[in-house]
Amino acid sequence: TIAQVRGRRVWDSRGRPTVEVEVTLKCGVSGRAIAPAGASMGTGEAVDLRDGGDAFGGLDVNNALAGVNGEIASELRSMDAYAQSEVDTRLVQLDGTPNRSRLGGNAIVATSMAVLHAAAAASGQPLWRYLAGDGPVRTPLPEIQIFGGGAHAARRVDVQDFMVMCPAAANFGEALEWTAEVYRAAGALMKQAGRLQGVADEGGYWPAFDTNEEALETLTRAISDAGLRPGKDVGISLDIAASEFGCDGRYTLALDGRTLDTAQMIDMLGRWLDAYPILSIEDPLAEDDAAGFRQFTEMYGSRCQIIGDDFLVTNAERVKAAASAGALNAVLIKPNQAGTISEAHAALTAGKQAGFGTIVSARSGETEDVTIAHLAVGWNAGQLKVGSFSRSERMAKWNEVLRIEESLGRQALFSGWTALPFHGR
Ligand code: PGA
Ligand code: ZN
Repeated sequence: TIAQVRGRRVWDSRGRPTVEVEVTLKCGVSGRAIAPAGASMGTGEAVDLRDGGDAFGGLDVNNALAGVNGEIASELRSMDAYAQSEVDTRLVQLDGTPNRSRLGGNAIVATSMAVLHAAAAASGQPLWRYLAGDGPVRTPLPEIQIFGGGAHAARRVDVQDFMVMCPAAANFGEALEWTAEVYRAAGALMKQAGRLQGVADEGGYWPAFDTNEEALETLTRAISDAGLRPGKDVGISLDIAASEFGCDGRYTLALDGRTLDTAQMIDMLGRWLDAYPILSIEDPLAEDDAAGFRQFTEMYGSRCQIIGDDFLVTNAERVKAAASAGALNAVLIKPNQAGTISEAHAALTAGKQAGFGTIVSARSGETEDVTIAHLAVGWNAGQLKVGSFSRSERMAKWNEVLRIEESLGRQALFSGWTALPFHGR
């Protein structure tokens, strides 16, 4: 039974204020979680409550904390922490807006996750095991950023994430080893070319490239330099985040100033798919380009994972609609985009029922909170996207999955190729 809910201000990986919530149960056990924050957000997602004004660029969270310590705390007191969906329904009803704007997506998601942690702690199990019950678990295929871009790197290149996936690795630990070698090799190539200029928001190298293609060439080269086979051992995964530079069927590329229509965007991405070992593309088109998504999926869905982030915003109804329209074959699951743990889980379930790939994902603004590592394993999501292979807010999640994999011991099964909706090769 929930005895106390307490909110406090902590700071995220961009040095911005965010909400931490601590839930204490009558038995004395407690759970804690921190809200992450996005930079390239879909218009359909839950919105954070920020104070505005001068302090910290208007991003302070005193109003969100007041809601946690006031209304939310009194509403949840005496509720059963094991009844996650009832708690989440209560939070949604208490807020009363379609996008969580009154109490704040940040206040609500941190509370929802803290209740989950408290319940797991009360059950005496690690969170991933509490979620999985007796069901099957696999460690996720990680999607790891090597170069940042887009809104996470001052639009230095158009593409937001240049990532790798290691589906041929024997286990999660080996996937990290391979990624570490690729990350090192990419750094060496950047240094050689006089282009090493630090890292972007999620820890990938700053994309000092003249074209998107140059980044793709360099990444492919880094995979071979690491002694791995591009497309066989290690593939490329891109987040185009096209809503950031496209709407109404027009896409304006920052690098060369060209404006493309939907057909030309699809054409360009198709050429990339032919030229580079790409296994996955997220948000290839803007969130308002439903027809484009259908066309792209029809053309390339049998050989490439096509993930909806801004287009689906972790919403079960949108996932079902996309599946029945033949748009996309994978869904990104960001708990703070949905608002609560139960809504995020519903979107994941809808994705699985549609045969979609499901990827639990961090945000560009993160913290030491490792909840998503547990969700990826406990929900048997198959894939996990956390950003790059540097900066401790990223490494904390990868390292947590290593611990989980170790505790699974010989039973540990790695998702690998099976996580991809086109069934790999
Ligand atoms: P965000 O971006 O967390 O900055 O919104 C991450 C993504 O687009 O996947
Ligand atoms: Zn995205």
